[in-house]
Amino acid sequence: MTETRTDNRSRHESGRITRVLLDEERLHARVRELGAEIARDYAGRDPVVVCLLKGGIYFTVDLTRAIDLPVTLEFVRARSYVGTDSTGRVELAWIDGLDIAGRHVLLVEDIVDTGLTLIEIWHALEARSPASLALCALLYKEKLLAHPFPIRYIGFAIEDVFVVGYGLDYDERFRNLPHIAVFQPDGPSA
Ligand code: IMP
Repeated sequence: MTETRTDNRSRHESGRITRVLLDEERLHARVRELGAEIARDYAGRDPVVVCLLKGGIYFTVDLTRAIDLPVTLEFVRARSYVGTDSTGRVELAWIDGLDIAGRHVLLVEDIVDTGLTLIEIWHALEARSPASLALCALLYKEKLLAHPFPIRYIGFAIEDVFVVGYGLDYDERFRNLPHIAVFQPDGPSA
């Protein structure tokens, strides 16, 4: 995996952003590939894309535009992290009114780290009787050797580092960086 140091260190609080892991070009090329693959797999169907907020928002927006099918878009909100640590508890919001019975559902997540969020949302979606359920994660931390559900579509497998940008945050910041960067909470703030 090519890793370049960020050449735009003044952007936001970049003293703690140590390097760009995935630049815009690589992200968009991979998202387009995933969109084409999903369109082929779901040809003739009208899948429901369930975006897991907030982290999945940028990925979902770009991915759905790359899927040449009539998709329906839904949103569920999950929260488990404070700073760089998982709280171990996953709170789901907006799932109660979700009507996906008999539909082909594609869950779109920003990153699978411990897999806790995934377990929680997977059960909640399965309980609503979809015709099929599959997961598309932009990032997957390779440290997770065994995970409970197959991830059908993976953008990139990455090392075990904390990343921000393209939807991913550190305490609600950095989501709007156009690339994915490695963040060190103990580093100097700009
Ligand atoms: P998991 O439940 O540990 O798999 O974590 C899933 C959620 O935690 C993701 O949807 C993210 O919102 C957040 N998360 C996990 N790792 C990172 C990271 O490296 N940066 C930012 N957010 C992360």
